[in-house]
Amino acid sequence: MARIRSQQFLDKVVSADEAAALIKHGDRIGFSGFTGSGYPKAVPSALARRVELEQTQGRPFQVGVYTGASTAPECDGVLAAVGGMGFRMPYQSDPDTRQAINAGVTGYCDIHLSHSGPLVRQGFLGRLDFALVEVTAITADGELVPTTSIGNNNVWLDVADRVILEVNEWMSEGLEGMHDVYYGIELPPHNVPIPLTHPGGRIGQGTLRVDPDKVVAVVLTNAADRNSPFKELDAESKTIAGHYVDFLMNEVKQGRLPQSLLPLQSGVGNIANAVLSGLLDSELGHLTSYTEVIQDGMVDLIDAGKVDVASATAFSLSPQVAQRLNAEAERYRRHIVLRPQEISNHPEVIRRLGVLACNGMIEADIYGNINSTHIMGSRMQNGIGGSGDFTRNAYISAFVSPSTAKGGAISCIVPMVSHHDHTEHDVMVLVTEQGVADLRGLPPRQRAQAVIKVAHPDYRPLLREYVERAAQEANSAHTPHALKAALSWHIRMLETGTMLP
Ligand code: COA
Repeated sequence: MARIRSQQFLDKVVSADEAAALIKHGDRIGFSGFTGSGYPKAVPSALARRVELEQTQGRPFQVGVYTGASTAPECDGVLAAVGGMGFRMPYQSDPDTRQAINAGVTGYCDIHLSHSGPLVRQGFLGRLDFALVEVTAITADGELVPTTSIGNNNVWLDVADRVILEVNEWMSEGLEGMHDVYYGIELPPHNVPIPLTHPGGRIGQGTLRVDPDKVVAVVLTNAADRNSPFKELDAESKTIAGHYVDFLMNEVKQGRLPQSLLPLQSGVGNIANAVLSGLLDSELGHLTSYTEVIQDGMVDLIDAGKVDVASATAFSLSPQVAQRLNAEAERYRRHIVLRPQEISNHPEVIRRLGVLACNGMIEADIYGNINSTHIMGSRMQNGIGGSGDFTRNAYISAFVSPSTAKGGAISCIVPMVSHHDHTEHDVMVLVTEQGVADLRGLPPRQRAQAVIKVAHPDYRPLLREYVERAAQEANSAHTPHALKAALSWHIRMLETGTMLP
């Protein structure tokens, strides 16, 4: 109970089941949680048990789940598995939730992470009935020390009618002081510039505010985030990372980037992590990062003295690195600042700092349009996350991916993407294991030539054939497409199991 330093909050301690009993069918809940960090550990499972009970008695029970980003099996997963999630926003990567979305059980509002808090603040998505937020401690003044993510917690706590807190005693008290919560965001026309001019800048306070009268339950937990290990870096990921690092080094050589680069953003997933590992072996130093998620590779860069400071809204770590961070939180907080996602992903700040964005993709087309979210045009994988926030506003925007998927049956470079997340106007660089396509300043037909060079050799002749056919059939020589053939690779894949003829 030492973590709850205010009697007013101590008086509200209940069990997870008692807290879950306060929630009704149809309620909208703002959960903490971002990339598997800082999500509530106990109340979601209690709520899922309740959903099952109500359903077996013939009563419908679904809630709307609003988060920072993805959570974990014991949060998203348990609710989706019992069909208890009627609505979900703004990002997920959970297998059960993905299935519920693709089965039409869960309505999914996949939006830019920087937009998610403001949309709720504006009242556009209706009232939030509850905020359900994990914290490390409650101070004597009744303020909240966040855990391993901040995400949209500040917004949920501000706007929700009622608040349930989970105080997680597993989280190191050394996390106190790592966070920077900015309270200067207003709705237009009252908004003012965000005074952040360096990734390590501190412009807010260390704790989250909450109106104590709105807090209806406090639940004690003691559990680590469900971190998943990164895959062992394979040769392909290392090659892709190597190409991207070489590209950055060449930018330095050409005088287009300083020796310490500009703040790095790296997306989720193994390749993004491989890029960070690639930087570890480079001669670059005094690096900074302005990103949304701190992965293992970034912690290694800090330990190696390569990165001076990293700003994000959450961690996404393997279990081993999570243990290390928790044990040495006091040391890491000199190099790490966690912020609300409306700041970590804010276009204004990203553009001002000149961030180098690097994200994963499902597929790119010959002109450099990117699909980050939908498999074969319709099936949701995860969501756009912060990739749009960073790509659109980056100093240099890059996408990294192997050139093929499913053992070569799918080309990740296609004539036309089956879903658009990032348009050709926003995409500057594509990197596969085949090399780097630098698309900056190229008109469309030259972009196509550059993009085809990073496609897999098995697919290059087919892409060239497509380009020739498009030149003959299109109604313009500017961005030629052969519309009848443009999505034929995807159709072939769905019909035969491969994009190869
Ligand atoms: N067509 C069909 N399936 C494809 C594919 C393609 N062109 N490319 C990849 N896949 C499949 C993979 O085979 C894999 O399938 P599996 O889960 O059945 O094994 C799945 O898609 C994920 O691919 P993987 O190579 O493991 O991806 P990743 O971990 O590098 O992630 C994205 C790639 C695009 C899914 C991921 O980067 C993402 O969700 N991006 C959007 C959000 C984002 O960028 N967030 C960070 C912003 S700060």
